[in-house]
Amino acid sequence: MKKIVVAIDGYSSCGKSTIAKQLAQHAGYTYVDTGAMYRAVALYLSQNSMIQEFKDSDDTYQAKLLKENIKLSFLRTKEGQHICLNGKDVESKIRTLEIGNLASQVSAIGAVRRFLVAQQQLMGVKKGVVMDGRDIGTVVFPNAELKLFLTASAEVRAQRRYDELLEKGTQAVYEEVLRDVQDRDYRDTHRQESPLRQAEDAIVIDNSHMSREEQLQKVIELFNQHING
Ligand code: DC
Repeated sequence: MKKIVVAIDGYSSCGKSTIAKQLAQHAGYTYVDTGAMYRAVALYLSQNSMIQEFKDSDDTYQAKLLKENIKLSFLRTKEGQHICLNGKDVESKIRTLEIGNLASQVSAIGAVRRFLVAQQQLMGVKKGVVMDGRDIGTVVFPNAELKLFLTASAEVRAQRRYDELLEKGTQAVYEEVLRDVQDRDYRDTHRQESPLRQAEDAIVIDNSHMSREEQLQKVIELFNQHING
């Protein structure tokens, strides 16, 4: 059967990874969470107290530091895919608000984007991947056969993130989570390097008032149309 690349972009906390994982499972495709890669880079810099120094450095230094110090890989576990930083599973460490924020900051740096985009493009060479992020349909795979752009209101996304944090036993204040969502939206859409934007040929799905089942149904329908069409 013909294999395609599915690019899923959209704002933070709008359920991209959930739908990407579900579709990958349905299709028997590999799922790639590119946000986890930006988060792992942020974690490395944070663990080594290098965020500010890195931001202030020139492009050549940044590119060399990334190449020489950061090896990323994905591990399949019973709980799903985990990202490894230099051979160590750091999945739980990257899923904090703090690392999310730092990831949003370092993802604006050109050297970081080039370093990760090159790896992401390699992962899709053989097709059969569902990749989610901010620039998949515009920069990583501008020729992806199926491009989806997910969106939901900031309030709905903040509520979902807030519920998730409470479920994990993390204390949170809704207003702070909302501010964080809005700040990240602003940074993701206003940065100079590959800002988040909808590819012209992307199909927009606003899931503010959609159940997960309805969304999955719609995405599978779109996927099947591409496979059979
Ligand atoms: O999807 P996420 O919240 O795990 O992503 C973390 C940050 O990484 C997010 O603020 C934007 C950035 N990112 C990016 O710039 N490009 C991508 N392809 C994926 C994530």
